[in-house]
Amino acid sequence: MEAQLHVLKTEALEKIAASENVKELNGVRVAYLGKKGPITDLLKGMGKLPAEERPKMGALVNVVREEVTASLEERMALLEEQAINEKLQSETIDVTLPGRPVQTGNAHPLTRVVEEIEDLFISMGYEIAEGPEVEKDYYNFEALNLPKGHPARDMQDSFYITEDILLRTHTSPVQARTMEAKGGEPIKIICPGKVYRRDNDDATHSHQFTQIEGLVIGEDIRMSDLKGTLSVFAKKMFGDEREIRLRPSFFPFTEPSVEMDISCFKCGGSGCNVCKKTGWLEILGAGMVHPNVLEMAGYDSKRLTGFAFGMGPERIAMLKYGVEDIRHFYTNDVRFLSQFQRTEV
Ligand code: DAH
Repeated sequence: MEAQLHVLKTEALEKIAASENVKELNGVRVAYLGKKGPITDLLKGMGKLPAEERPKMGALVNVVREEVTASLEERMALLEEQAINEKLQSETIDVTLPGRPVQTGNAHPLTRVVEEIEDLFISMGYEIAEGPEVEKDYYNFEALNLPKGHPARDMQDSFYITEDILLRTHTSPVQARTMEAKGGEPIKIICPGKVYRRDNDDATHSHQFTQIEGLVIGEDIRMSDLKGTLSVFAKKMFGDEREIRLRPSFFPFTEPSVEMDISCFKCGGSGCNVCKKTGWLEILGAGMVHPNVLEMAGYDSKRLTGFAFGMGPERIAMLKYGVEDIRHFYTNDVRFLSQFQRTEV
């Protein structure tokens, strides 16, 4: 029996040493020390031994059990530590790994142009005014010196909702509304916003687009003030070397009325494909506020005068960024939009 015990012990210790992980080692524990294992069997068989051998054999079996248990515990501690170390190793965070880039959006090119223009005029003391896109015929036309039946209404094909309500065809009604609200006081505003016309969409026309209106009313406001203001605007938007040119034009709400051109920013005036060989680019309409418009809004046109202008941010953005089709601004193809990353801080 002693020899048997020795073999058992050697075997168990070998298996413990050969165990490579906690699970395997637990298997060895159950196999040798468990209720159905050989050591328990030996202890159980003790009763069959002659009484005088029992104490000695009992002690021997206990020594073996303790040795095997001690070896198991030692190996278990080692394997557990190894397992923890392996886990720590595999889970280390490499703080030097580059981060995953976050996809950020950027301002729409039209928004950029509008904000740039707003910033410029705010720096010159203007306030921003807004008005409804669903507008009364009165503000869209009549208060701007375009009574019912006026032929110039035809230039602005319109979406009527009722006979007296339509989608505004320009931002000029905000002029009339602001004048009415200010009750004869001086005004210095720009009015950005959406406008609508019953146009067939093509590369240069859209049934919906944006405009920015400007209106200044005060004592002694003259054409030279308009010209100076537009010159500052042209230089800020298209470069310091820009010249401006005013050509006579007609708008029912201004008298005199002008169209403003800027010297071509691409060729400097010598003629190229951008300016269609003319050296000039048409940018906006403007003029001195018509006395009828002032009087209709309750202003004394003898005491106060003013100038106004209206421009299309789409056209400005198309020129500035070389966009060949106005529909790009509305179809929202990210391949188009992502080209306008904001670089300025
Ligand atoms: N409302 C005009 C249009 O949509 C643009 C315009 C021209 C506005 C001259 C003005 C102006 O205020 O003075 O065609």
